[in-house]
Amino acid sequence: MEREFRTELTFAKELDAKDPLRNIRDRFYVQSNEIYMDGNSLGLASKDAEKALLKMMDIWKNEGIKLWDGLFHYAGKLGEMSAPLINAYPEEVVITGSTTINIHQCISTLYKPNKERYKILVDDLNFPTDRYAIDSQVRLHGYDPKEAVKVVKSADGRFIDESAIIEAMTEEVAIILLPTVLYRSSQVLDMKRVTAAAHQRGILIGWDLCHAIGAIPMDFKEIDPDFAVWCTYKYLSAGPGSIAGLYMNQKHFKETPGLAGWWGNKDDTQFELKHEFEHQRDASGWQIGSPSFLAMAPLEGTLSIFNEVGMTKIREKSLSITAYLMYLIDEKLTKYGYSIGNPREDNKRGGHVCLEHEEAYRICKALKAAKIIPDFREPNVIRLAPIALYNTYEEVYTLVETLEDIAMNKIYEQFSNERTLVV
Ligand SMILES: Cc1ncc(COP(=O)(O)O)c(C=O)c1O
Repeated sequence: MEREFRTELTFAKELDAKDPLRNIRDRFYVQSNEIYMDGNSLGLASKDAEKALLKMMDIWKNEGIKLWDGLFHYAGKLGEMSAPLINAYPEEVVITGSTTINIHQCISTLYKPNKERYKILVDDLNFPTDRYAIDSQVRLHGYDPKEAVKVVKSADGRFIDESAIIEAMTEEVAIILLPTVLYRSSQVLDMKRVTAAAHQRGILIGWDLCHAIGAIPMDFKEIDPDFAVWCTYKYLSAGPGSIAGLYMNQKHFKETPGLAGWWGNKDDTQFELKHEFEHQRDASGWQIGSPSFLAMAPLEGTLSIFNEVGMTKIREKSLSITAYLMYLIDEKLTKYGYSIGNPREDNKRGGHVCLEHEEAYRICKALKAAKIIPDFREPNVIRLAPIALYNTYEEVYTLVETLEDIAMNKIYEQFSNERTLVV
């Protein structure tokens, strides 16, 4: 989509004044002396999340063990509230575990290798935890990952070509795990095309939505993937280490969970405490142990914001504000060695901008010293995520001014290139 932008500050202010989401920002804890561009790593806290957490504390304080009466189906209720974000059926979604645990759960349920079909197909740009989980899953079946994990390689280290993925869907492939949005370059893979191609070849497919959920709308009723997993601490702003999401397509409800536990047992017989597992035939049947209410409650608060605003408006603002950021980068920063490393097309870029520079690490340090919070990804990427619900166009303007100053005046030279533990 063509958008008209101008470089002056007054124009950023005009965009903010016209922003239909401008009042939502007040519901988040935005620090007045800081510009936060890292909501794709850890989303900011909201008042709605805080209220939901405090309500949960009150329930615990006042009700003790009696709290189970009202909260027995809480993981399913949050699943139901999450379902509109991906247009799934409510019973296909549950809030449980972590992304990594949920990958183990879904793969161990659906990966049934035999002599002909035993490979798992992945890409080489996904977040490493996905790969560690896949390697360990094939090992559990007695295979060597070097033989049983098939890797689609990126040609340029930035993007994955969907045609290359489809070409790699050969007869030995049993199941596929891919990211919807690549965590470094922000590329959005065409889930519909890739999923359809997998199914035409008799291959199951699941998606890691960590960088997509809450940033881009998805239509699971149309895409029809077999499973999906996601964290809730990035765009969904449910708090550090908040409980993750799991989608299981209803056609697999008949399957027995690879990692069974008593919270996956049928509701009506769970407390009979029998030693025979009776599987609950919906997504909540893929829970393992007791749900962690205090780590889930903030999600109830933020999901109420997402459902009130709706993913269409969130995506519209996100596309507009990231397009504005790219425009300012083109206008003001390319002459200082910065370049854009994400796809430019609306349907191909996620919620963050991938800014590359050979001094990216020290530039990130200089940004932080100037009270702007980006994040750095090896080897040369500054990830910048102006979040639809709480960032402003004026903040993007100030960010670009600061990036210009840091490069033009070589301010980054004041900082060490030595890597610290968390970047
Ligand atoms: C694509 C992707 N998958 C998984 C994770 C992390 O997994 P977990 O939520 O289990 O820590 C991340 C974290 O940034 C990620 O970007």
